Amino acid sequence: MKIGVIGAGTMGIGIAQVAAQNKNDVFLIDSSEVALEKAKQGLKTTLQKLVEKGKITEDDLQETLEKTSFSHELKVLAQCDLVIEAIIENLSIKHELFREIEKNVSENCIIASNTSSLSIASLGSVIKNSNRVIGIHFFNPAPIMPLVEIIPAVQTSQEVLKKCQSIISDWGKIGFIVNRVARPFYGEALRIYEEGIADFATIDWAMTEFGGFKMGPFTLMDYIGNDVNYAVTESVFEAFYFDPRFKPSFTQKRHKEAGFLGRKTGRGYYDYSIPELPSPTRDKDLGLMIYNRILCLLINEATDAVFMQIGSVEAIDLAMTKGVNYPKGLLKWADEIGLAIILNQLENLFHEYGEDRYRPNALLRRMVREKKKFY
Ligand SMILES: NC(=O)c1ccc[n+]([C@@H]2O[C@H](COP(=O)([O-])OP(=O)(O)OC[C@H]3O[C@@H](n4cnc5c(N)ncnc54)[C@H](O)[C@@H]3O)[C@@H](O)[C@H]2O)c1
Repeated sequence: MKIGVIGAGTMGIGIAQVAAQNKNDVFLIDSSEVALEKAKQGLKTTLQKLVEKGKITEDDLQETLEKTSFSHELKVLAQCDLVIEAIIENLSIKHELFREIEKNVSENCIIASNTSSLSIASLGSVIKNSNRVIGIHFFNPAPIMPLVEIIPAVQTSQEVLKKCQSIISDWGKIGFIVNRVARPFYGEALRIYEEGIADFATIDWAMTEFGGFKMGPFTLMDYIGNDVNYAVTESVFEAFYFDPRFKPSFTQKRHKEAGFLGRKTGRGYYDYSIPELPSPTRDKDLGLMIYNRILCLLINEATDAVFMQIGSVEAIDLAMTKGVNYPKGLLKWADEIGLAIILNQLENLFHEYGEDRYRPNALLRRMVREKKKFY
């Protein structure tokens, strides 16, 4: 197949690599020459590392590079069967691009977006033949994460959905539908910091030490980029009609405005120009309090996803373990801790703050009343 990928940033390069390694001809497009040059070098370096580790051969490397071409012009998309857009997370800029994509692709080309949070239905609304629009949401880093979220819009045809599911599974990925559950990992960590309970390093320590997460929330936000993570939070908030559960954080907004985007700018919550990152306060009681607070909000969100029929218990746990690399499925975790304990913690927070972000999900209350478990 011929695959177009637009946006040669973090996600675009990864998606292009996945497609090219699966023997497709890939056209990676970016409006910035600098980004294209960086992508070219980046792909080469990544593939060389894979050769050194013995994961691919020198021939595979050559073949993948030959299959990938770089351009700043959309007209190369004319031959593509599938185009995946991975530019900046901004609805009006994406709308503009979608109109341009439609002018440049063939009638049967599927037009997909890698958006983390914008509405696929809205993206589809600006083009004439919108039944070919779909969300194909890769996780970061795309070549490594096994899960890909496939998001049909109300306009998407069954044929396009089936075709995309088959492409994604041919690429060795698991197609999946889920969203939003991870927001409290960032939002509640920021809130805990804003209340002055602990600094970034201590909150990160609590989540890795007691939760077994691979990275703490601030390290992860610095890795994702505060611009990207903030944009996702803002559009989830909007998409849920400003439900206070998803309220963005001033701290993150100010970091974004200051250009403290994370590793990519050398400074985010941490300053990467200093050789040693700050040490956490290793206070066990404090650490456990932070971990419990963030985890019970995550579990509340996963419960809501079951309650609102977004996916089954197993599917939501699979999404969080395979999609965002959580050490355990949140609902399995909830069973282990005990649903009554989780509910009690949420009730205490809700009582203390009187804010809707802590309101326990109705399904959780019901399950505790009926002495049920998720598994
Ligand atoms: N970073 C993540 O962890 C992550 C994970 C999943 C999904 N996403 C989504 O993927 C998309 C891209 O994110 P990213 O982190 O790769 O961004 P990025 O900032 O690293 O890269 C975006 C690239 O798009 C280019 N670009 C911007 N406008 C353009 C246009 N009109 N035409 C062509 N190129 C244009 C920029 O030059 C840049 O190189 C976003 O929608 C984001 O929400 C990001």
